[in-house]
Amino acid sequence: MARTFFVGGNFKLNGSKTSIKEIVDRLNTASIPENVEVVICPPATYLDYTVSLVQKKQVSVGAQNTYVKASGAYTGENSVEQLKDVGAKWVILGHSERREYFKEDDKFVAEKTKFALDNGLGVILCIGETLEEKKAGVTLDVVKRQLDAVIAEVKDWTNVVIAYEPIWAIGSGLAATPEDAQEIHASIRKYLASKLGDKVAEETRILYGGSANGKNAVTFKDKADVDGFLVGGASLKPEFVDIINSRN
Ligand code: G3P
Repeated sequence: MARTFFVGGNFKLNGSKTSIKEIVDRLNTASIPENVEVVICPPATYLDYTVSLVQKKQVSVGAQNTYVKASGAYTGENSVEQLKDVGAKWVILGHSERREYFKEDDKFVAEKTKFALDNGLGVILCIGETLEEKKAGVTLDVVKRQLDAVIAEVKDWTNVVIAYEPIWAIGSGLAATPEDAQEIHASIRKYLASKLGDKVAEETRILYGGSANGKNAVTFKDKADVDGFLVGGASLKPEFVDIINSRN
C-alpha cells in the first residue's frame, strides 16, 4: 500500500485567534492534492476554534499533548476524550521539548501513546537525538531505544505516524540533509520491520522534522523513506502551503 504524504504543523506555544484564522483561511483557499494528509496542531486553547474554521477534507486538527487518564484530579491536563470532544483527530507525543522541559521519559511517552491510541486518537510519535548524541555516533541507538519503549506497549501501529526530529535541527534553521534524513529513516523502517514485521514497517509513515521550510522541502522529494514533515516555525507562515505541495 503506498504511503500517503503527511504534513503536520506544530504551532507550539504560538498563535492567537486572529493568526490561526489567517493560517486556516490560507489552507481553505490553497490548492491541496487529494492524497495529501495535513494535520495542524494549535495550542489546546484554540483546538475547538481551529476545528470550527477548517473546511478542507485533507486537513484535520491535532493536539500537542494529552494525559494518560480519562478524567480526574490532574490539574492542567487535557484528556483524550476532551480532545476528541472538540474535534481533534491526532496528538503529538514524545516531542523533544516535552522530553526536555517537562521531563517526559521513554516509558511515559509510551504509556501516553498506548492510551491515546486505545482511546481513538492518532499519534504523531516524535523521536530524535541531541547534537552530542549525533557527534558521539549513537543516533540509531537513541531512536531505537525511544521506539523500543513504545513497541513494548503498542501492538497496533495503524494510527501511528513517526516523526524523526534531530533535536539539533529544531528551530536552528539548519535542517538535516535529505541524504542523512533518508539514511536514518531507512534504518528506522528496517528496525520496525525487525520488531513488528514488514507490513507495519512498510505502512508506517516516517516524517522528517527540524527546520523544514518552503525552500528545502522539495529537496526531500525523491527520498523513499521520507513520507512527509512535522513542521514548526514554517507552519505559521504562508510557506506551509509550499511544503504541503512539495511532492507535486
Ligand atoms: O515538531 C516540529 C518541530 O519541532 C520542528 O520545528 O521550527 O524546526 O520546524 P522547526
